[in-house]
Amino acid sequence: MLRDKNLVPLSRQHQHALALCVRIERASPIRESDLIAWQQEIAQHFRAEIRIHFNAEEEFVFPAAHNFAELTPLIAELHDDHAWMRARFAEAEAQRLSAAEISEFAQRLSQHIRKEERQLFERLQQLMTGEQLAVMGRELEQVLKDAEQACALPAKEHKQL
Ligand SMILES: [Fe+2]
Ligand SMILES: [Fe+2]
Repeated sequence: MLRDKNLVPLSRQHQHALALCVRIERASPIRESDLIAWQQEIAQHFRAEIRIHFNAEEEFVFPAAHNFAELTPLIAELHDDHAWMRARFAEAEAQRLSAAEISEFAQRLSQHIRKEERQLFERLQQLMTGEQLAVMGRELEQVLKDAEQACALPAKEHKQL
């Protein structure tokens, strides 16, 4: 099913994260000499995009899905995935991930995204009304735009120096 326009900003971020996962999978097994660079890249991607993406899903998408009993087990699983991945991101930030853990992380992140795209988003597009999707879309647009501005500010200040 074609992605509903209200979910497109999240799907676009999924594409960015999947691209990182594919690069990690292609580079696996990760060489010891590349360990720090990969962890820096993972941590940077989390700060730039995934942190706000997880928050936006938890605040606006998962609660909308909770209105449909059939999605309850899936939402519980997705919440658990977020918790597991936040812990891995913190470890990447502290440069504590092993090569095997980096590969495992990439696999689980891409599985998580596929679950959201193929199960959650597909089903929400069928179950929610156009009006409900539009309300959620506006909330997502606002929170993602705020994040972009927050990211843009330090760069702008830097230019003025
Ligand atoms: Fe998610
Ligand atoms: Fe997501």
